[in-house]
Formats: sequence, structure tokens, C-alpha cells
Amino acid sequence: MTVCNKSIEVLSAFPTIGKADFVCKDFDHSSQAYNSTEKNFMTTSVQLRDALETDLPIFYEQQLDPEAIQMAAFPSRDHDAFMTHWGKVMADDSVLIKTILFNGNVAGNIVCFEQLGEREVGYWLGKEYWGKGIASQALTQFLDFIQTRPLYAHVAKQNIASRRVLEKCGFKVAAEDKFFSKIFGKDIEEYILILNPNESINP
Ligand SMILES: CC(C)(COP(=O)(O)OP(=O)(O)OC[C@H]1O[C@@H](n2cnc3c(N)ncnc32)[C@H](O)[C@@H]1OP(=O)(O)O)[C@@H](O)C(=O)NCCC(=O)NCCS
Repeated sequence: MTVCNKSIEVLSAFPTIGKADFVCKDFDHSSQAYNSTEKNFMTTSVQLRDALETDLPIFYEQQLDPEAIQMAAFPSRDHDAFMTHWGKVMADDSVLIKTILFNGNVAGNIVCFEQLGEREVGYWLGKEYWGKGIASQALTQFLDFIQTRPLYAHVAKQNIASRRVLEKCGFKVAAEDKFFSKIFGKDIEEYILILNPNESINP
């Protein structure tokens, strides 16, 4: 989860902060329910809820997709590495993970985590859910209860869809960077996008 999942592997190396520090108080985690500020919750087919252990086999399959790997320039993990990694991440209080439901089915996940002192967002959908506006809806809902600004996202330059999702939600390209990808065996160029305070969302 650069935005994508690539940054999650280093999450445990960074100090944790309580979720209360960056999550809007209007979101009730214990009941997994939204209050009235979550206007879209009951009126759209895209919903967010807390991630459950039973979602992990689905997330695992979704991150194996070769086209998604190319798009995000992020390698998949084998089963054991994936489960170990996600077990750690789900236990980390500084990481917020929501499962994205589409018509009640697990379409993917969306996350907010800290990387080098900056809070980043990331998301990943199963391929059968692409192209239906789900990521744009999910990020819009997610941003309603992530208080932190600025908020960051890293996107491989070839990932047009992900860049568009972010821009529709008010993120703007602020910088460029590159990282060495083991799977591609070369440097991958990426954009760094930032959501600043008071940016409006235009899905
Ligand atoms: C990137 C991803 C989350 C997009 O999800 P999605 O639900 O298909 O996105 P949306 O349907 O909300 O589309 C968002 C915008 O991107 C555009 N878009 C979608 N797929 C596209 C593609 N392949 N090429 C160009 N534009 C595309 C859509 O038209 C839409 O723009 P519009 O509203 O102006 O028409 C999804 O493809 C995915 O999970 N990919 C693999 C993992 C990944 O790349 N994660 C992000 C890592 S940074």
C-alpha cells in the first residue's frame, strides 16, 4: 500500500500512534456503523467496514492478480508471507484498514498508515470489481473519517486509474520519485500526490 501496498512492509519499523489521533470521532469502530455524517453509507452499494480475518483469503487472492501487480508495480506475497504480514498490520493500532464491500461482497481493501512520518492511503480491488467506480466511492467515504491532512499517496506513473481515483478525491500531484522494483528489475517512476486541507472532493 503505497498508497499501494508496497509501503506496508516497513510499517512496523515506525512508531505507532493511536487511531484516535487521525480518525474522525464520528466513526464508531466498535459497532462498525456510520453516523449521519456518512451520507452515502446506506444509499450506495459501496460500503466500508472493519477488516476481518475471514477477509484475508480474499485479499490474498486479489493481490495475486498479474495485471494488478503490473499496474501497481507491487509484487504479490506467497501465502505464508501474506498472512504473517497482514496479521501484523491488523494488530498495529496506527494502521486503519477497511474492507470495501460492493453489494455485500468483499471487493477489496483500503488502508491508511504511517510512512516516514507521513500518513498515506492505499487500496486494492479484485479485478472483477474494476471499472465500476468502486475505488472512487470507497476513497470518498474513507476520507470522511480520516482527519489527517496533508494526506499522501504514491502511485506508479503507469497506474492511470489509481491516479484518477486520487485526483477525483482532491489529491494533487506534488512530486515525482522512483524506486527499484525487484519484480521488474528496474526503477519504477511514481507520482507523489497530496491531499491538502480544504481540498474539495469531485468524484
Ligand atoms: C486502481 C484501482 C483501485 C481502480 O479501481 P476502480 O474501482 O476500477 O476505479 P474507478 O472505477 O473508481 O475509476 C476511477 C477513474 O479511473 C478511470 N479508470 C479506471 N480504469 C482505468 C484504466 N485502466 N485506464 C484509464 N483510466 C481508468 C475511470 O474511468 C475513472 O475515471 P472517470 O470517473 O473520470 O471516468 C483498481 O484498478 C485496482 O485495485 N488495481 C490494482 C491495485 C492498484 O493499482 N492499487 C492502487 C495502487 S497505487
